[in-house]
Amino acid sequence: MIVTTNQLYKVAYKKFAVGAYNINNLEQTMGLFRGNIQSKAPFIIQLSKGARNYTDKRMLEAIIRTAEEVFPDAIFAVHLDHGDEETCYDCIDSGFYSSVMIDASHEDFDENIAITRRVVDRAHAKGISVEAELGMLGGVEEDIAVDEGHACLTNPEEAVEFVQRSGCDSLAAAIGTSHGAYKFKGQQSLRFDVIEQISQKVPGMPIVMHGSSSVPVEEVQRINAAGGKLDPSARGVAENEYLPAARLGVTKVNIDTDGRLVWTRVHREFFRDKPPEFDFRPPGKVFMQEYANFIAHKNEKLGSAGQLDAVRASVVK
Ligand code: G3H
Ligand code: 13P
Ligand code: ZN
Repeated sequence: MIVTTNQLYKVAYKKFAVGAYNINNLEQTMGLFRGNIQSKAPFIIQLSKGARNYTDKRMLEAIIRTAEEVFPDAIFAVHLDHGDEETCYDCIDSGFYSSVMIDASHEDFDENIAITRRVVDRAHAKGISVEAELGMLGGVEEDIAVDEGHACLTNPEEAVEFVQRSGCDSLAAAIGTSHGAYKFKGQQSLRFDVIEQISQKVPGMPIVMHGSSSVPVEEVQRINAAGGKLDPSARGVAENEYLPAARLGVTKVNIDTDGRLVWTRVHREFFRDKPPEFDFRPPGKVFMQEYANFIAHKNEKLGSAGQLDAVRASVVK
């Protein structure tokens, strides 16, 4: 069942975080649904601009609608990840999306608010909610690369004005993470002080954490042992920080990179161990099961595992 993103936030806020997982193809979608059913978790499917253009946006929409039939117990929202204004309008007008993210965080404060406000007005007229970003994460967001020197944490004082003037429904905040596999070197913690301040200044506002992959060392080592060349010192967000962040108001946790690492590990190991193989379905089957296990594991760490019945009770009245 596709629900609104706000319906998920209402149940989750300050109790657990909802996993927001990016998908691009059929195998990821199957693994995603299986893993969420396996762990009895509500979830958010995220489609980036890149994902929508990978084949044709209608292919993804059809896959998701079919998955909804194949997995009748699943409860999820469909969200546009890192949208520009034009893509937000396309998604709003399509009638398929539960929510959109307008990412104008690279603009100055007033322009970010003006763009976000326009998207909010169009979205709310159709019952769609809007995630907006204040502050800037490092790494790559869609086509825009932000080097670490230009990344800046969200200012909690500014967050109050931003939320009031833009009318956004959730706030993507820069709280110490960055996108991609190369976030941190060595142990680095989330900025719990900033999360806490935002949460105090804008009570009730779900905070969204981008760049939440944990880049597991074991995954990187296995990929490299099977011929990959990833930086072995790369580190991500410690998984045991998800739930403390959730209890402070981080309600949506975006994870993409870790899923790509699962795909890379499965396929590198498969073809290393079976050089004569050329049928893509056997590794595809392994990937779908491994991806399902990965999703179920993440949901345990986010606290969303086991929350499906609570969400169902809240949305089906
Ligand atoms: O934050 C970006 C997401 O990981 C989506 O990545 O734009 O390469 O699909 P993508
Ligand atoms: P990761 O690169 O850490 O998986 O972050 C994904 C993300 O923020 C998608 O919007
Ligand atoms: Zn992101």
